[in-house]
Amino acid sequence: MFFVPEIIEKKKRGLKLSKEEIEFIVNGYVDGSIPDYQVSALLMAIYFKGMDEEETTNLTMAMAHSGEMVDLSAIKGIKVDKHSTGGIADTTTLVLLPLASSVGVKVAKMSGRGLGHTGGTVDKLESIPGFRCELDGKDFIDAANSIGAAITGQSKNLVPADKMLYALRDVTATVDSIPLIASSIMSKKIAGGADKIILDVKFGSGAFMKNYDDALKLGSLMVKIGGLAGRETVAYITDMDQPLGLAIGNSIEVIEAAETLKGRGNEDLLSLCLEFASEMMVLAEIESDKEKAIERLKASIDAGEALKKFKEIIANQGGNPEVLEDYSLLPKAKYELEVVAPTDGFVKQIDAIRLGITSMKIGAGRQKKDDVIDPAVGIWIYKKVGDKVTKGEAFAKILANDEEKLHWAAEESKAAFEFSREPIARRKVIWAKITKDGVHEL
Ligand code: URA
Ligand code: CA
Repeated sequence: MFFVPEIIEKKKRGLKLSKEEIEFIVNGYVDGSIPDYQVSALLMAIYFKGMDEEETTNLTMAMAHSGEMVDLSAIKGIKVDKHSTGGIADTTTLVLLPLASSVGVKVAKMSGRGLGHTGGTVDKLESIPGFRCELDGKDFIDAANSIGAAITGQSKNLVPADKMLYALRDVTATVDSIPLIASSIMSKKIAGGADKIILDVKFGSGAFMKNYDDALKLGSLMVKIGGLAGRETVAYITDMDQPLGLAIGNSIEVIEAAETLKGRGNEDLLSLCLEFASEMMVLAEIESDKEKAIERLKASIDAGEALKKFKEIIANQGGNPEVLEDYSLLPKAKYELEVVAPTDGFVKQIDAIRLGITSMKIGAGRQKKDDVIDPAVGIWIYKKVGDKVTKGEAFAKILANDEEKLHWAAEESKAAFEFSREPIARRKVIWAKITKDGVHEL
């Protein structure tokens, strides 16, 4: 059999690990027969020497098979999942679920809670009174077949190898390795059962990947892994140097999703949702022409069908669909405070991560796993990079349940915005699309 120090030695010298060696390590780590210190050393060797596409795919598959492999075959049609590497004011999934299913894409979404600046999609939806995300397997499949969309929390037994490896990477300074990130993300997508995968790889100050070139490398590698694993994958490289939409919170992101489905949302958020939803239509073989797909999606919004679908999804999971018409039915914060521009000019820069951390600290997100989210609190921004402001005009609004936090968050938000006297160009949202045929810069 295998001897762990030899596997570490091999990687230390930059040699390629075999499928069997990788499986031996992953299985041994999960079953407790290989200790943390040996896996730590191997992770550090991988950090310095890297892994090629085949090794990374073998690691991905060994991790995916370490727990439950979800079977979505009882849902009719081609199932396409969308995953984001995470950003600020990223309400995309809340919009995409009803939008794509309103034109016939079957969406069976599993979403984690996890840590972050705001809750995950599940937490955001649970700000709707009555909404339940704990669907059992049969209800989940039935809902996806009948309504066209369903969302549930992630199974506890999904990719235990990733939970263990991620925790170890976190304390051994080996998180920022592209093959380790790629295998971590793709193992969860593959175990989640989707036939095809759309990845939103964000880059910029508010993202996990700080620069475009690293995001491109990560996206390209994940597209290769998806292909080698028989799950066609398309990756987008998108901007996260400023918040995507306007809402950073939980109930306010439900409001922003509703506004977007009513055709009056933020144009950056809408453009990304239209791109992903049309790509889902193409991948699910519902529409072969991308332009036509976008036309059909816009028509669905104009006709109110996408909004109606959102109501159906909410009602089907026990929530009150009236919240989409009457926002006062959502949890509301006790205090509100507007933040006003100190000068005439244009928004030059928005420190997305600072806004994200601020919203988390006033209760919109989790710093520790067992923190409880306050669905009512958060930050609305009214302006994005390139927008004009006049002195005294509000550019953000803080929602808080604690007066001290309210004022602190207003100061932080003020500091997160930088203004210029001169006009500033708007930022591009979608920078590149990566398919099996390569990178297409946009
Ligand atoms: N997100 C993940 O799921 N895994 C990583 O390793 C990094 C970001
Ligand atoms: Ca705008």
